[in-house]
Amino acid sequence: MKENREAIIQLINATIGYGDLTVVNHVDMVVYQGETKVILGPSGVGKSTILKAILGLIKPTTGEIRIHRENIVPYQERELVRIRSQMAMVFQHGALFDSMTVGENVSYRLRELEMTTPDKIDQRVDEVLNFVGLRGARKLKPAQLSGGMRKRVAIARGLAPDPEVFLFDEPTVGLDPINHFNIEQLMLKLKKTQRATMLIVTHDVESALRLADSIVILHEGQFIFDGTPTALKENQDMRVKAFLDPEKFATARE
Ligand SMILES: Nc1ncnc2c1ncn2[C@@H]1O[C@H](COP(=O)(O)OP(=O)(O)O)[C@@H](O)[C@H]1O
Ligand SMILES: [Mg+2]
Repeated sequence: MKENREAIIQLINATIGYGDLTVVNHVDMVVYQGETKVILGPSGVGKSTILKAILGLIKPTTGEIRIHRENIVPYQERELVRIRSQMAMVFQHGALFDSMTVGENVSYRLRELEMTTPDKIDQRVDEVLNFVGLRGARKLKPAQLSGGMRKRVAIARGLAPDPEVFLFDEPTVGLDPINHFNIEQLMLKLKKTQRATMLIVTHDVESALRLADSIVILHEGQFIFDGTPTALKENQDMRVKAFLDPEKFATARE
């Protein structure tokens, strides 16, 4: 079945790092259209680094990164801007512009891309704020919002230009349980109603199991698992088991 689906993001034999530091070493990964893929792994393993490479912010030293079959590795900034315009990036801490209102934050990309008229932009801002459950927040400043609300605004801003792909970096980290739940629900709604292709990076196993169609586990520069949440729960690799359940694993060794 998989062969019939369109690959939207592909890492092919990609080695990515910083100077002498190799973070991921000759890895392969595919995100198919409409799929929610989760990159799971502990802090510092290289999850954000992979997102940076997909956005063309850093270049792999071997292999290819393909977005819609285009290898973006040789691309210059101008072409990378075009590639990035198809992707919405929701950063760890929302990364909103503090001096702008919520409405201005959400419309920022639309104004920058000059794709449409001010009236249409207004309408779109209302639409996406409504989608994330923040209809009344348009005139507020980020400082007046809770962490969960800021995250919603970041999602609305990503959604506004109707992107092909959503990239999320630790979307629920640092949120209280209610906001954690709400943001997960919002991501599931994106998947269902927008048929969005999503690549989510997290160290949160439970969250990954709830959101993902497929999961990769990053461990010491390699993907040591690639498959469905069900397959993950049944996986017998000791490194995978140790990551999923460190407590049990630690006591089992004693
Ligand atoms: N700009 C950078 N320059 C040099 N090393 C970096 C840089 N960003 C991250 N690293 C290093 O790369 C490794 C992976 O980091 P990162 O991708 O941020 O991990 P994760 O997102 O999984 O927590 C870490 O060892 C980190 O210290
Ligand atoms: Mg990170």
